[in-house]
Amino acid sequence: MAPRSGKTSGLAIPAILSAPGPVLLTSNKAANDAFTTTVDARAEVGTIWTLDPQQIAHHPREMWWDILADARDLAGAKRLAGHFVTASVDESSGSDFWSTAASNTLGALFLAAASHRRPITDVLAWLAMPADRTPVDLLTDAGHHAVAAQLQGTVSGATETRDGIYETARQYASCLLDPDVAAWVTPNDDLPEFRPFAFATSRDTLYLLSKDGGGSASAIIAAAADAVMRAAVIVAERSGGRLDPPALCVLDEAANVCRISDLPDLYSHLGSRGVIPMTILQSYRQGQRCWGEAGMDALYSAATIKIIGSGIDDADFTDRLSRQVGDHDVQTTSVSTSEGGKSTSVSMRTERILPPDAIRALPKGKVLLLATGIRVAMLNLKPWYKEPSAKVVGPASARATKAITERALAKSIDQDDLGLSA
Ligand SMILES: Nc1ncnc2c1ncn2[C@@H]1O[C@H](COP(=O)(O)OP(=O)(O)O)[C@@H](O)[C@H]1O
Ligand SMILES: [Mg+2]
Repeated sequence: MAPRSGKTSGLAIPAILSAPGPVLLTSNKAANDAFTTTVDARAEVGTIWTLDPQQIAHHPREMWWDILADARDLAGAKRLAGHFVTASVDESSGSDFWSTAASNTLGALFLAAASHRRPITDVLAWLAMPADRTPVDLLTDAGHHAVAAQLQGTVSGATETRDGIYETARQYASCLLDPDVAAWVTPNDDLPEFRPFAFATSRDTLYLLSKDGGGSASAIIAAAADAVMRAAVIVAERSGGRLDPPALCVLDEAANVCRISDLPDLYSHLGSRGVIPMTILQSYRQGQRCWGEAGMDALYSAATIKIIGSGIDDADFTDRLSRQVGDHDVQTTSVSTSEGGKSTSVSMRTERILPPDAIRALPKGKVLLLATGIRVAMLNLKPWYKEPSAKVVGPASARATKAITERALAKSIDQDDLGLSA
């Protein structure tokens, strides 16, 4: 669905408001969006965790999450490095030499830090000083000899190559250079720690907020969402196969703020474990740019419920949908006049039930539902603001939005004060 056609108000918010278990939401907007609309209602059922490293909601830092917790083995460290790469580049350029080498180096540094419980800020220091032997020693010490040798190889290779790799890696990890961002993912004894495993069986809510695009904190958001979903699957497997109540993971604006590269593979594991992912995209193409053609195809096939709404401008996609909706027979009557009088003939013609141009012109609020085992259906969305509960939810959202504005204002006054006293 295109922007402003009801993805958040008609799908994300109603799902969150009716979720029986834990909820995760990724978002690139705070004011008058899913965060403000659901935060009060969710606070009534559980703890609210807000990870807002770029201050989208100007939310004070009241929690921390250990970004390196899953990086203590090689697979986890590689996955974390992958989040930083995917957040910065499109699928097409994510596999060139520099990207791959930078991703390997980042992975090695994450593993070195994580295996010795060092903070992520150490990784930044090592990135700035490729000649520092500390990470190689730490890796060797932890028994990761092959990774240590590989990192040593990169560090002692040709200077131009090494500098190129390190510069690329620094760009990928650049969001962590901001101490205000890094603080959210660095251990802090004074604040509660967000724990993905405990979250899976709670009725808590995790809001993951970030700006779009390269250099933003979206890699952190993707890493956190990934960690939560993986933890939920593990907890489910330990407790009889399914989470009950299920965990809802709403990846709003997924291609902008939550590019989990192996989401297509992850998808097929989640549903059967009571972990319900809801990936929200503006177009099919947006998904292809993020996960590649094969990846998006896998994601699309793995989704048992697909909803397509207004503003689809992609001719191939609308044609494909039109074919899936199917054909019907239409009766045409033609009348011809000749000397012998009038004659009427009736013929049958096969027509598309919903031609591509009609799909392109779907009005706001109308969606196509593609669910396994049934014909394509056309539905009206029921946005939260048209529900009876909007009487309560609407004012709550307005209050939360006002609080964001007030926090922003208070900050700018603080900064003015600093300016005056300097
Ligand atoms: N509280 C509300 N009251 C009335 N209309 C609303 C309200 N919130 C959103 N809308 C309408 O819904 C449209 C879609 O909003 P949204 O769900 O945020 O779109 P998307 O997430 O697809 O970008 C908005 O353009 C607006 O017209
Ligand atoms: Mg939205």
